[in-house]
Amino acid sequence: MARVKTQFVCTACGTVHPRWGGKCDGCGEWNTLIEEGSQGGGVGGGPQALRSVRKGKPVALTTLSGEIEDAPRIATGIAELDRVTGGGFVRGSALLVGGDPGIGKSTLLMQAAAALARRNNRVIYVSGEEAVAQVRLRAQRLGAADSAVELAAETNVEDILATLEQGPRPDFVILDSVQTLWTDLAESAPGTVTQVRASAQAMIRYAKSTGAAVVLVGHVTKEGQIAGPRVVEHMVDGVLYFEGEGGHQHRILRTVKNRFGATDEIGVFSMGDRGLSEVANPSELFLGERSASSPGAAVFAGIEGTRPVLVEIQALVAPSPLGTPRRAVVGWDSSRLSMVLAVLEAHCGVRFSQHDVYLNVAGGYRISEPAADLAVAAALVSSLVGLALPANSVYFGEISLSGAVRPVGHAAQRLKEAEKLGFGQSVMPSGGEDAGMPSSMSAFQPKTLVELVARIA
Ligand code: TYD
Ligand code: MG
Repeated sequence: MARVKTQFVCTACGTVHPRWGGKCDGCGEWNTLIEEGSQGGGVGGGPQALRSVRKGKPVALTTLSGEIEDAPRIATGIAELDRVTGGGFVRGSALLVGGDPGIGKSTLLMQAAAALARRNNRVIYVSGEEAVAQVRLRAQRLGAADSAVELAAETNVEDILATLEQGPRPDFVILDSVQTLWTDLAESAPGTVTQVRASAQAMIRYAKSTGAAVVLVGHVTKEGQIAGPRVVEHMVDGVLYFEGEGGHQHRILRTVKNRFGATDEIGVFSMGDRGLSEVANPSELFLGERSASSPGAAVFAGIEGTRPVLVEIQALVAPSPLGTPRRAVVGWDSSRLSMVLAVLEAHCGVRFSQHDVYLNVAGGYRISEPAADLAVAAALVSSLVGLALPANSVYFGEISLSGAVRPVGHAAQRLKEAEKLGFGQSVMPSGGEDAGMPSSMSAFQPKTLVELVARIA
């Protein structure tokens, strides 16, 4: 009888180890190795005998010209979604849509499915988590019950492939979720890394061979407890994350990886009683929750992908009873906050060492641009001295360690958006590209952070 060999797989990156260890050699994460039964011919490899039979034929690169730009796409007509995918789902590709449970992934994909079916695509929605009746109930709620989307409740990959082979070739297939899939080829239990990886591989192969666009849905927990999606990220052509904060109705769809387009796009949606609706102007949404100007609030004119997004940055600086004061950040990089605090202390003589500092980006939004430095610095100083910033000002600019205010890209777009939303003044770097200052706005262009601090305090 064949002995079942065990191996240890990293739940974060999928590296296989012969022995258990505290740290993964592949990605350096701690406590991510779990035991799994090994899988005969290697993941996705199949029996050795098959390999020598299959023959590949090289194709001249020149005959492939133009294929990337003209990747055949199926657009949904939902603008926020199409922008994030780079113009629609690409035929013959696989996409992973990840996000916390309950964030709205199934809702988003049912709406996408209905939109595609209405455009005469054959769409199959395979649900491994909910019964067909449940999926239909959701579709009803979304006003999509009359669409031609076909539903199936299956989790076994071989069964799913058999279902998909019936009838005309589907254009769009949704597998909700990848964690529920299992294949006869792998020995371990459903939900384990080996199963998720082998199943995803089978579905990716299906996409490539039939030309269908396949979407895999994956749950991600903050602790990374559930095995799978991180491993699948390396295998698929694109990864989208669906995010949102509890208590806020808006949701952000973010491109993390895209072999066929840009990776810094976002789509903004709002979750309502009847599903997700598009938010065409996210700045209005993020600034909508703004209270009358109070100390510690500054509006940052940011850019996400190709789109300007105005968002409020809130700082609270309060005397600390602790020997080591607290620093807490939501929505921004904490090491970046430490840097801005250090520059304010070292070059501007503003002391935070006796104060707790809290920084929050309003509306559950997350900023990755260094261009937010100036807005953060303004919010911090404003809170420390207890004086509100002018309500009609926006801020953008990067701060260097020397305290200089550095130019950032897309100034013209940032200003245009600020003008559109009725802001009258921009605090921004001098120099850089030609900003194209709107006539209704004035600019304050500090060369150093010292100049900004002097103006606030
Ligand atoms: P769902 O799409 O099932 O989330 P996921 O697939 O990511 O786990 O959506 C779950 C939440 O969305 C649930 O709490 C109910 C809410 N919801 C609405 O608020 N409005 C709607 O129209 C729908 C369909 C769901
Ligand atoms: Mg779901």
